[in-house]
Amino acid sequence: MSEAGQLVDHEARARIANDLDSTLVVEAAAGTGKTTALVERILSLLRTGKATLRTLVAVTFTEKAAGEMKLRLRTEIEKARSKASSPAEQQHLNEALRQLEAAHIGTIHAFCADMLRERPVEAKVDPLFEVASEDESERLYDEAFTRWFQASRACSVARPASAIRMVRVPRFARPGATSSSSATSLPRTSAPTSIARPRSTR
Ligand SMILES: Nc1ncnc2c1ncn2[C@@H]1O[C@H](COP(=O)(O)OP(=O)(O)OP(=O)(O)O)[C@@H](O)[C@H]1O
Ligand SMILES: [Mg+2]
Repeated sequence: MSEAGQLVDHEARARIANDLDSTLVVEAAAGTGKTTALVERILSLLRTGKATLRTLVAVTFTEKAAGEMKLRLRTEIEKARSKASSPAEQQHLNEALRQLEAAHIGTIHAFCADMLRERPVEAKVDPLFEVASEDESERLYDEAFTRWFQASRACSVARPASAIRMVRVPRFARPGATSSSSATSLPRTSAPTSIARPRSTR
C-alpha cells in the first residue's frame, strides 16, 4: 500500500480495467485480485458497448472458478446498472444481464468441446463425444502416463542416454525410498531416482 492509501500496483490494475484496446497478459500470485480485475475489465467492455456477452469468451481451468466468475460478473453488472451514466450504458448492461446465462464463461475444456461439436467433421471426431469428468480424466491420464513411461523405459534399455534426460536424481534420496504415489524408481542397477511426472492442469 502506498502512502496515499493506494495499492502499489494501482496503475496496472487501472490499465486492466480501462485500456480496452490493448491485448494484455497479466501474471499475479494467488489471491491478489486476478478474478476481480478480469471481471472489472469485462464490465468495462460491456458498459462501453465495445463487446457483448455473445462475442466475448472467458475461460478458466475449473468449473468452480467459472461458476465464481459468472456469479461475480452478475453482481457487478447489477451494481453498475443501478448507477449507469447514460441510457446507452443502461441498455448495454440490461442486454448483458439477458445474455449472461448463455455467455461463453466456462472451463477451457467446455469451450473446446463446444467448438468441436460445431465442426465435428472438420475435426474428425465423433459428434456424440462426451467430455470426461475430472475424476475420469485423472484416471485416463494416469493410465496413459504409465503406458508411455513403461514404453520409454523399455526403449531406454537400448538407448540409456534417453533415460538420463527423462529422470531427475533427488539430492538426498535414500536407496529404495519413494516420496509419493507418483514416484517411481529405476531398475536396481541404477541410482535411486524419482520421476518428474507432469501434473494434470485441472
Ligand atoms: N484492488 C483490490 N483492493 C482490495 N481488495 C481486493 C482488490 N482486488 C481484489 N480484492 C480482494 O481480494 C480477494 C481476492 O481477490 P480475487 O478472488 O479476485 O483474487 P484471485 O487472484 O483471483 O484469487 P485466486 O488466486 O484464488 O483465484 C477478494 O476478497 C477481493 O475482494
Ligand atoms: Mg481467481
